[in-house]
Amino acid sequence: MPHIADRIRSSSPKSYGMFAKAARRPDPSSLIHLELGSPVHDTPQHIKDATIEALQSGQVHYSNFAGIAPLREALSAKLTRFNGIAASADTVLVTNGLTQASFATFMALIDPGDEVILLAPYYPQHINKIELAGGRIVFAPLDVQDNFSIRADWIEERVTPRTKAVVLVNPCNPTGRVYSRAELAALARVAIDHDLIVISDEVYEYVTFGAQHISIASLPGMADRTVSMFAFTKAYAMDGWRLGYLTAPPVILEAIMKVAANEVTHVNTFIQYGALAAVLGPPEAVADMIDDDRKKRDYLVRSLNQMAGLTCRSPEGTIYVFPDIRATGLSSATLADRILEEAKVVVEAGDFYGPLGEGHLRLCFGSQPMDRLEDAVSRLSCFFSAL
Ligand SMILES: Cc1ncc(COP(=O)(O)O)c(C=O)c1O
Repeated sequence: MPHIADRIRSSSPKSYGMFAKAARRPDPSSLIHLELGSPVHDTPQHIKDATIEALQSGQVHYSNFAGIAPLREALSAKLTRFNGIAASADTVLVTNGLTQASFATFMALIDPGDEVILLAPYYPQHINKIELAGGRIVFAPLDVQDNFSIRADWIEERVTPRTKAVVLVNPCNPTGRVYSRAELAALARVAIDHDLIVISDEVYEYVTFGAQHISIASLPGMADRTVSMFAFTKAYAMDGWRLGYLTAPPVILEAIMKVAANEVTHVNTFIQYGALAAVLGPPEAVADMIDDDRKKRDYLVRSLNQMAGLTCRSPEGTIYVFPDIRATGLSSATLADRILEEAKVVVEAGDFYGPLGEGHLRLCFGSQPMDRLEDAVSRLSCFFSAL
């Protein structure tokens, strides 16, 4: 491949796990998909209406590279009120989903050879971006025995003079944990003591079931060293819209802007008016969807715990359960393959999230309506009783 850049050849192939396997099957219409985190709900009507109105009224031109001013003002108020981050509108950048926010952040901060710590089990889609920036990934385990809690001492043991950043996913995909203030404070202490940046993925910030979401940037000393990233993707069921945002200290934001402006100039102008309607709109629109997710979470957890060989904790947030399958004696990849083949349900193998995810499956309860989830549960019940 003589024409291909080294950064492409030397980075790991992009993997879509069981989704890719299911796509290659000859029987796609017989499958129930519980692997992809694409919300089942439709985007609330007031958000669509505001977007259509903006489009019809001529909001079709270049706008501010960081995002339209009223949206950044509204996001700055939301960040202050909900996240406890005193971000002015000048320190907000609107992005194409959290994916672009994280890509631009890694590109702006990571030099070749820099080490970036990921907490494992990890969200795999951050890996490629870090590699493309030339970074070296170092894994710090979460405490599997203690409900995947953060162990600051285990993170600290992995810090070297090359460590630049720690990536935090809170609420956590795939484990469903919403980290406590004490866990975040312990991580913050390591970041401050070793002069590290925390790159905080908070795409599930609103999708919690009673647990309080805390943004690490709101902790003392952290606002100056955190890039906080958010998206409209999950809570507003806007995954196809590709809308997110971040806030960062001014010098870091300027560096990120250099990447983002070269990459996409800015996010589509009229779509940002939909985002504005989402931020200013009635909170019930989000609360109703999360209430529906909570019902499905409770149903799926109860059902999985009745199946032979499975033990499932109730996730504090996100749209995923992460049941322990070790009692089946099978590896997670074998089990996910057999469930696909025999039960025609697509679930993700725990080892997709790294070796520390082994012994688990990940199932998404937020991607199907209740009746479809019930079908999946009856297929899984048959499968596990025959295993
Ligand atoms: C932890 C996490 N971060 C980022 C993303 C991607 O977000 P977006 O679609 O806004 O780019 C996802 C999507 O599933 C996710 O689970």
